[in-house]
Amino acid sequence: MLVASLLLAACGTPTAAPTTPPAETTQPPAETTQAPTEAPTTVQTGGEVEIFSWWVGPGEADGLAAMVKVFNADYPQYTFVNAAVAGGAGSNAKAVLATRLQAGNPPDSWQAHAGQETIANYVAAGQVQPLDDFFASTGFASVLPATLIPLISANGHPYSVPVNIHRSNVMWYNPSVVQAAGVTIPAGGFTTWDDFFAACEKIKATGKVCLSMGNEGFTAMHLFENVMIGTIGADKWNGLWLPTPTTDWAGADVTAGLANYAKALSYVNSDAATLSDWQPASKMVADGDAAFNIMGDWAYGYFANPDPNGLALTPHTQFDWSPVPGTQGIFVFLSDSFVKPIGNKNPEGTMAWLTVAASKAGQEAFNPLKGSICARTDCDKSLFSEYSQGAMADWLSNTVVGSLTHGVVAAPAWQTTIDTALKLFIASDLGTKAQSDFQAALVAACKSDGTCQ
Ligand code: GAL
Repeated sequence: MLVASLLLAACGTPTAAPTTPPAETTQPPAETTQAPTEAPTTVQTGGEVEIFSWWVGPGEADGLAAMVKVFNADYPQYTFVNAAVAGGAGSNAKAVLATRLQAGNPPDSWQAHAGQETIANYVAAGQVQPLDDFFASTGFASVLPATLIPLISANGHPYSVPVNIHRSNVMWYNPSVVQAAGVTIPAGGFTTWDDFFAACEKIKATGKVCLSMGNEGFTAMHLFENVMIGTIGADKWNGLWLPTPTTDWAGADVTAGLANYAKALSYVNSDAATLSDWQPASKMVADGDAAFNIMGDWAYGYFANPDPNGLALTPHTQFDWSPVPGTQGIFVFLSDSFVKPIGNKNPEGTMAWLTVAASKAGQEAFNPLKGSICARTDCDKSLFSEYSQGAMADWLSNTVVGSLTHGVVAAPAWQTTIDTALKLFIASDLGTKAQSDFQAALVAACKSDGTCQ
């Protein structure tokens, strides 16, 4: 935090994005004696710039395409190569990337979540370079929320360029299905999961699915974090991830969260495992086959964007939203960022891409279509939907907590262990024995990470 404040103080007034990529030096940043060394930049003004992400499908591709447009206009000397690998939340992309990094063949930049996914993974493995010079020359830190800076930094050095802030805890719903079942969603959302389950009984009675979910690639964990936070609250959720946890993984709070998770799963569509990704589950709400879908606000882009990548639905009448039950006043966040690799082919092209990703123009092009809000604090609000303007206000006023599924709170190895236990659980009968086995596996996962003793 101290370093973050120093960075903020040093950067002063935000400056406009430069039109040529800022020069990187081999010098370690001045404020430390132990800075990781930045690899020398080979000057290659032009050529292909290969950018890796998982923004391929409906609701995902439009934002990227808009940012690429800015890149092409600002840097016509480069050829953008889209190395995106389909699969929500990077369910396939992360494995492909790991193989490439292992083979010493990194793309020129890749999508990495702010938080442990970047720090405990790419930084710890020495696969990315610090961006002190870039931050200093662009003044980027001064237009980022102070809360975000520690999540992209290690030992005081920033390591990635956040492009957005997404919200995980949104409950999307079909107003007609909800109304036809006689369900009223209180302004501000259901305050408890029991209220949600009571609504589910009414929905079920009309023959509709209450809660749609996609295959377990990531959507089951996405639901898990939301049910847990909606049951135990922000402070206890944070307490699970502290270096010395203040919330007991073996305790009654987690037990209650797991009981609610099991019950929520009992209202999920029976064909969830066969759905290809998150989009078909969100579409069940759009089509009026399901009442609710708990998904991050990339779903907004899918619901609202025009054809062919969006469903072009009208907010409030054809779809609507509310906080996940029990999460009023909580903003479960994640942030996509881009890194500067070590040993990639076009380091100058990397800096050009990062310059666009950091810029106001790049973020204003990307985020309104992505359903996210800018990571920058100075974007023009009028470019954004009513939904996103609400998210902007909530981001500033709510208690902000980090997402597990999307790389903020747990190191990837820990997240993978949790995911293995979670998949066993959703394949079980969800009964009390399965719940206590799942909880024991969560305790073991915390221990094997080294966080729990
Ligand atoms: C998240 C990512 C979002 C969105 C979502 C669904 O992990 O941060 O930008 O792409 O996955 O794929």
